[in-house]
Amino acid sequence: MAGVEGRVVAVTGAGGGLGREYARTLAAAGARLVVNDLGGARDGTGQGHAAADAVVEEIRGAGGEAVASYDSVADEAGGRGVVATALDAFGRVDGVVANAGILRDAAFHKMGAADWDAVQRVHLDGTYHVVRAAWPHFREQRHGRVVVAASTSGIYGNFGQANYGAAKAGMIGLIQTLAIEGRKYCILANAIAPMAATRMTADVAPPEILEKLAPAHVAPVVGHLLSDECTDNGTVIVAGGGQVHQVRQFMTRGATFVEVPSIEDVAARWDEVVDLAGAVPGTNPVG
Ligand code: NAI
Repeated sequence: MAGVEGRVVAVTGAGGGLGREYARTLAAAGARLVVNDLGGARDGTGQGHAAADAVVEEIRGAGGEAVASYDSVADEAGGRGVVATALDAFGRVDGVVANAGILRDAAFHKMGAADWDAVQRVHLDGTYHVVRAAWPHFREQRHGRVVVAASTSGIYGNFGQANYGAAKAGMIGLIQTLAIEGRKYCILANAIAPMAATRMTADVAPPEILEKLAPAHVAPVVGHLLSDECTDNGTVIVAGGGQVHQVRQFMTRGATFVEVPSIEDVAARWDEVVDLAGAVPGTNPVG
């Protein structure tokens, strides 16, 4: 099994939490790593080199190969910087894990535009910036792997996370199209929705639940999605605490109206529209 041996992977937000675990696991499996981290606080304020440097030292200490990047993924120059770091250090880039993240939770009626924007910039725009910078190299070499950090908040919603859930759902939408456009260049794009005890989740669940959610449970799943053996494309995988499953969209059999219906006609057949019995995996009728 080739796995990720010799592959060059950039993990954003790898100075702590899940990203650190992804980087360490990938390096132990023979990948060469760009450990990117802005080094700020959970809400995205501040910055520093210590977080990324510590993970690079850890990986090197264990005999692996890694270099640090302190770029913010939130702007285009930062995204380019992450990929440039890979090219400068290793001469190529084979995979990107768009994992950097911040939180600015608030109930929607209290959510200001600044908290909305900051979260979109790091999660959704940050994913765009890094993946967009790597994409021409993936196409050129006819090989690439994209893994984005989605969230169950983006799939199911979560109180206080309208900004975060919208960004995460956007990232799932992004990989659906990347999966289509990348397929013929052997580029695969998938999403991981992790569940793990990190500084991001330190105060959202009781200690007895968090202790079962070590980031180490998630990292091998990301490793598989980055591996040469992976064939899945456009999937959303939920992983945490030893559970790993795919989530996908289904469409009901629905109702067919031969003539343009009235509002009352639609209402009369609404049970058929929403009835999940016999639902099949959804496909894009105009794609
Ligand atoms: P974390 O807070 O420990 O790690 C996020 C890292 O991203 C931090 O080291 C931070 O410095 C870095 N970062 C923030 N803004 C950045 C920027 N502009 N540029 C570069 N780096 C930046 O959080 P955790 O839990 O490890 O989260 C990793 C990813 O997984 C995030 O995208 C998060 O939204 C997602 N996620 C985590 C879940 C969990 O259960 N821990 C649940 C669902 C999603």
